[in-house]
Amino acid sequence: MCGIVGVIGSREAAPLLLEGLRQLEYRGYDSSGLATINTQEDSSCGHLTCKRVKGKLGNLNALVEKEGSPGHLGIGHTRWATHGKPEECNAHPHRDVSGEVAVVQNGIIENHRSLRQALEKEGVEFSSETDTEVVPHLIARELKLLSKDGRQASGAMLLEAMHRVSPNLRGSYAIALIWAQTPDALVVAKRQAPLVIGLGEGEFLCASDTPALAGFTRTILPMEDGEIALLTPLGIELYDEKYKRQKRSPALLSGVEHVVDKRNFRHFMLKEIHEQSETAELWIARHLPTGLPLELPVALPFQDSFYEGIDQIQILACGTSRHAGLVGAYLLEQFAGIPTTVFYASEFRYAPPPLAPNTLTIGVTQSGETADTLAALAMEDARRQTCNDLKFISRQLGITNRPESSLSRQVSNILDIGAGLEIGVVATKTFLGQLLAFYGLTLAFAARHKRRSYEEINTLSDELKALPNQLREIIKQHDAISESLAHKFSETQDVIFLGRGINYPIALEGALKLKEISYIHAEGYPAGEMKHGPIALLDTKVPVISIAMPGVVFDKVLSNAQEAKARDAELIGIAPIGSETEIFDTLFPMPKVSEWISPLLSVIPMQLLSYHIAAHRGLDVDQPRNLAKSVTVE
Ligand code: AGP
Repeated sequence: MCGIVGVIGSREAAPLLLEGLRQLEYRGYDSSGLATINTQEDSSCGHLTCKRVKGKLGNLNALVEKEGSPGHLGIGHTRWATHGKPEECNAHPHRDVSGEVAVVQNGIIENHRSLRQALEKEGVEFSSETDTEVVPHLIARELKLLSKDGRQASGAMLLEAMHRVSPNLRGSYAIALIWAQTPDALVVAKRQAPLVIGLGEGEFLCASDTPALAGFTRTILPMEDGEIALLTPLGIELYDEKYKRQKRSPALLSGVEHVVDKRNFRHFMLKEIHEQSETAELWIARHLPTGLPLELPVALPFQDSFYEGIDQIQILACGTSRHAGLVGAYLLEQFAGIPTTVFYASEFRYAPPPLAPNTLTIGVTQSGETADTLAALAMEDARRQTCNDLKFISRQLGITNRPESSLSRQVSNILDIGAGLEIGVVATKTFLGQLLAFYGLTLAFAARHKRRSYEEINTLSDELKALPNQLREIIKQHDAISESLAHKFSETQDVIFLGRGINYPIALEGALKLKEISYIHAEGYPAGEMKHGPIALLDTKVPVISIAMPGVVFDKVLSNAQEAKARDAELIGIAPIGSETEIFDTLFPMPKVSEWISPLLSVIPMQLLSYHIAAHRGLDVDQPRNLAKSVTVE
């Protein structure tokens, strides 16, 4: 939620900030702003310029181009509104009353109300509704106290002010702040929100995420919780919570795709849907290479001991990642025979089940930054750590597309889904990557726990190897069908998605995709559940999209579809061509694959149909309203 960026060096800051923000726009895009400090020739003090706009980053670009924002030091922000509407007055940076201190923040200051009341009692006038605005006022107050003690304005003084303010801030935050009186100092602070420092040539940067740094440097220093740092043209000083100087070697950004490029596609989302055959190809090359022994046809990502002694699995995730977890749970239970439960991470945090022994906890998050998922994992780890019984020992695994994220710093076992950068705010190829990660785990557990015969395990592995070609074909075919069908949805207000068994989570995912980008109300149901209530909604205006893949529930799903047809609903089928599937008004033809692997294919028409419906309505598919790519607030 929100992206922050900061730079200090020898070049003009504003263009660098704008480029950094462009890479972070996926984190929020309802308003943006930047502040720079320009050194005055006749004094050591600088002049602070602040530009803020409502709406997309393009508006800020235009304003800065018109009015300029000089200086070699600056901070920038792209916002996803939490406290206060997306208006210019609530856009960051926020300043103190004198206008000399400017702050950008990502996260939530949970105790902002009490801090605000105290400051107001002291006579401070606020100019926004945000939680962030308390920070520049608190910093300004500390700076005043420090100068009363005889301290001269300096980067060290600004750093100390931040150090004094930090313990008073509750919640999660990544902060960057500048002060007109110190044109050679950028101070940053991090607690439970991502912040990475970049070491460039002749400049130092900070950003919420690495793509904002990748255009300038590949040398990075991810900050740890509680740390604060002073960035000057000469270097970086890093301190921990106790204000003890830290020495840590920087890391190199891995060689994964860091370039934001739409190629010839109209939207990133469409490009990313098309990239899924490649995602599968790469995954197969890594996890199902040829030449593996028959008794273990999957390359194990972890040592044997990781799989030993696991009696049950719990999966914590949000949104689309939770849907991947639901498919994963079906596979782990039904194929590998391990009892598996899936939780909304946000619910688990406050109502965890009683501790179960020998449990593996899996956190699924493409961004690796989702606050609810990270907090649920941390909470579960903490309650298991305090248990003396070895049976309750904490074993955790994170499944993510961002191996350099906060998740990876929190959880020791990481499965990198390697789907490449996903720019569209809604998850498509990362969902497929998460599903594949669960197929890999299922094969590994089934083989290690000897719950399936070699033959069954090898059959599943072989079916997965056929996936890239099948994906390529149906993406092409379903893209065309979806495009021609989209106009039928121009007046649609409600859609029902039905699926059963392993494809029930795909019905949920189909409904979520449609809601997210087309703003059409949609619900996913287990097909057999429709007659218990939702059927009352059906008429000619409510299309029903039914996933009927061959397998144990094939006939059942077709009967449920018939029930919808009898209520005049327009029926769209995700099913193989055949006499039984002639009941559908429109058919997205599917290959006759085994039920086990069917979700990897049935999700494609869900994504493409949502995409074309939204694009046909002229909506901003890649940056849908109110959403953000990583939800770093609770
Ligand atoms: C996906 O299209 C959504 N934007 C959203 O539900 C997302 O899956 C959820 O916020 C979890 O994100 P994560 O995978 O980064 O944890």
